[in-house]
Amino acid sequence: MKTITVNLPYITEEILIGRNLLADHHLQAITAAYDQVVIVADERLQQLQPRLLETAGQVFYLDASTAKSPKNHARLVDALIERRASRKSCLVAIGGGNLGDLVGYAAATYMRGIDFIQIPTTLMSMADAVIGKVAIDYREHKNLLGAFASPRYVLCDTALLDNLPARQRAEGLVEIWKHALLRHDARAVAQIDTILDNNLEGDYEELIRFSLEVKKQYVEADHTDTMGAHAALSLGHTLSNVLEKRAGLSHGAGVLSGIMHAAILAQELDMISRVHLNNILATGRKIGRYLPEVQLAQAQLDPEATVAALEYDKINHNGLVQLVLMTKTAPGYQKVALSRAELLSSLTKYQDNPMVLPSLQ
Ligand SMILES: NC(=O)c1ccc[n+]([C@@H]2O[C@H](COP(=O)([O-])OP(=O)(O)OC[C@H]3O[C@@H](n4cnc5c(N)ncnc54)[C@H](O)[C@@H]3O)[C@@H](O)[C@H]2O)c1
Repeated sequence: MKTITVNLPYITEEILIGRNLLADHHLQAITAAYDQVVIVADERLQQLQPRLLETAGQVFYLDASTAKSPKNHARLVDALIERRASRKSCLVAIGGGNLGDLVGYAAATYMRGIDFIQIPTTLMSMADAVIGKVAIDYREHKNLLGAFASPRYVLCDTALLDNLPARQRAEGLVEIWKHALLRHDARAVAQIDTILDNNLEGDYEELIRFSLEVKKQYVEADHTDTMGAHAALSLGHTLSNVLEKRAGLSHGAGVLSGIMHAAILAQELDMISRVHLNNILATGRKIGRYLPEVQLAQAQLDPEATVAALEYDKINHNGLVQLVLMTKTAPGYQKVALSRAELLSSLTKYQDNPMVLPSLQ
């Protein structure tokens, strides 16, 4: 078992990573001190992981695909009020990133903040969605209402990945790959390529640890996203936010598109070499085999409408849209402010780039 401690001004977060962690009664031990424990789980896990939930006590089940809504936030707060939950109570999220974000936001807002615990069940949530920020969507805006908040404990049981569908594994690999690109970590990129060449079989535990260690460093350095370091984590995410809401892409598919667009733009601006770009696109194409809708979204992208939506993004600054791009030297990323014309041109080049994904056959 591996442990990671994230030291934040408002909480010390402890993350345990290992196989069959949940069978070892860790959840009972870490929840013993709370006056009430309210468990919220992805409803699909009732069929997929019945044993995980049978000892969990009373559980609220939610549909992960629509979890991050103001309506569900209100439902959770109502449940906490009904149970007279106090500041000594805690919420537990059992599910992927959607469930975790909703439960984390409910915990961050109830009585100005109570503890929450995450049991991530997807690779995306294990490798990324358990440190630093929580949010829900509002109208057509992704992650518009949110908080800087972290769970008190995370139990990452890698046995839960055994039956995770291939596309969900590929989505998680996208965020791990983002961390490897930011760190210029050739070893991690090679491990990801090996897993992709091996039909998604391989050592995920090591990659999850790597990914969380990288994320921890950015969040510890800049936990409220004000000093600049945290922005690195937005690589690929600004365009993704728009594609998720407008083109219906999942988070992993959106970030994959965003990273490939960022790489093409970074090479144009001479921030990375052509060889580096080709390496990035080669790995992106391999991940894209499992997320074919990325190619459809690329073909159907409407650059004008996409720019208009990007201009609403919270990263919009003084009339310019800021995108995080990768660089050839440390620190591995740079925030670049782009005019409307530059953005339009970059999206058209992304759309026309035949390297992005092979044709669907
Ligand atoms: N807060 C953060 O720092 C952060 C970071 C990354 C992503 N996110 C958020 O996470 C969300 C995406 O997370 P996700 O990809 O986990 O999506 P998700 O929670 O919707 O889960 C994806 C699918 O996998 C299913 N599933 C969950 N566990 C399973 C299991 N063990 N076996 C089989 N199927 C399982 C779910 O029912 C769902 O259909 C996005 O909303 C994104 O914004 C947040």
